[in-house]
Amino acid sequence: MPFLTYPQTRPWAKAIREAVLLKKMPPWFAEPGYGPFSNDRSLSRDEIDTLVHWADGGAPEGNPNDSPPLRHWTEGWNIPNPDVVVGMPTAFPLPASGDVEYQYIVVPTAFGKDKWVEKAELRAGNRAAVHHAVVYIREPGSAWLRDAQPGVPYVPPGRTPRERLLSGSTTSDILLVYAPGNVPEEWPPGLAKLIKAGSDLVFQMHYTPNGRASSDQSRVGLVFARTGPDRRVMTLQLGSDRFVIPPGHPDYRVAAWGTLPNDATLLSLFPHMHLRGKSFEYNLVEPGGRRHTLLRVNPYNFHWQLTYRLAPPRELKAGTKLECVAYFDNSRNNPANPDPEDAVRFGPQSWEEMMIGFFDVAVDARTDKASFFVRRSR
Ligand code: HEM
Repeated sequence: MPFLTYPQTRPWAKAIREAVLLKKMPPWFAEPGYGPFSNDRSLSRDEIDTLVHWADGGAPEGNPNDSPPLRHWTEGWNIPNPDVVVGMPTAFPLPASGDVEYQYIVVPTAFGKDKWVEKAELRAGNRAAVHHAVVYIREPGSAWLRDAQPGVPYVPPGRTPRERLLSGSTTSDILLVYAPGNVPEEWPPGLAKLIKAGSDLVFQMHYTPNGRASSDQSRVGLVFARTGPDRRVMTLQLGSDRFVIPPGHPDYRVAAWGTLPNDATLLSLFPHMHLRGKSFEYNLVEPGGRRHTLLRVNPYNFHWQLTYRLAPPRELKAGTKLECVAYFDNSRNNPANPDPEDAVRFGPQSWEEMMIGFFDVAVDARTDKASFFVRRSR
């Protein structure tokens, strides 16, 4: 429902009151007290009060002459006009029902030179059916998905969907993650992602059929840095694929941690779980064991896969221990729970679970992932 004009908005006054009081809207799930985050879209206490008083007072129109000018909404790309658009070469056909395995589509970029990407956005061809997309940068010489034909949707080998997901995993850098409601990637000035000459983009597509046969052909728009960047952005992750959430457990904890091999600037955090996700936190753990929480997403909401951008970014020294802690609610009290009787393991579909804490760091522009993980002597 559009809320652009008074007549459009008026019938929703009560629902707006509820949504803002319960903090269901606007979608933002960082617990107050952490951050700040530059993309925080939550309302202030005053803004919430204003909306609640308006609804309680009969949702009056006020004086139309005082109304702000109509907002101009962007058609098409939300990033500035892309320098290059890289897309799936053909549409992927989608059935009306059933589960569709993750599809991997390798798309050569044919870039003759290294490109530094300052902004990137995925436009889903079929927004109703694209559950999420992860676009990876496959550098020349990589053996990842070597049996995949360029442009042809590919499912990695394995006996089960879980095995196929694991055999399709990679250390290649992620260009972007798309999920409904998230914002395009735009790194701060001087920071950019590197797509080396001759790289492929690999679209990992998760589709959810929704009752009607259709198709999807998604595209990524790229805006290049005008000058070489000062620093390179890489997406790293901490996670676990070895947990078993007991049936009915209301608050099952899974933690993963790692030690930063070299100095890095922490830019943003992106927690990922599925329907049993309850809360997720990122902590810095001091040598004595004291925790400093950077972000607590609580309640976690599977339908809103959001990035939380630290403002300002945080400098981390080599040796810093970063910890991600996820809590899962596999009880009947979780209305989103597909089956509280199930012992739940890691897996690709929404009725299975995941526990991944993605985070973006900026490092020296000449560093790559492999060299970042080699500890420099200090
Ligand atoms: C002050 C800002 C906002 C207000 C007052 C607002 C209000 C609402 C209301 C009243 C509903 C219907 C809830 C119901 O079913 O009773 C709703 C649903 C929805 N809103 Fe918002 N909204 C806001 C911001 C946003 C933003 C920023 C997004 C997208 C990024 C968004 C996306 C949605 C979606 C997808 C739904 C339907 C699914 C759902 O209920 O979660 N809204 N919103």
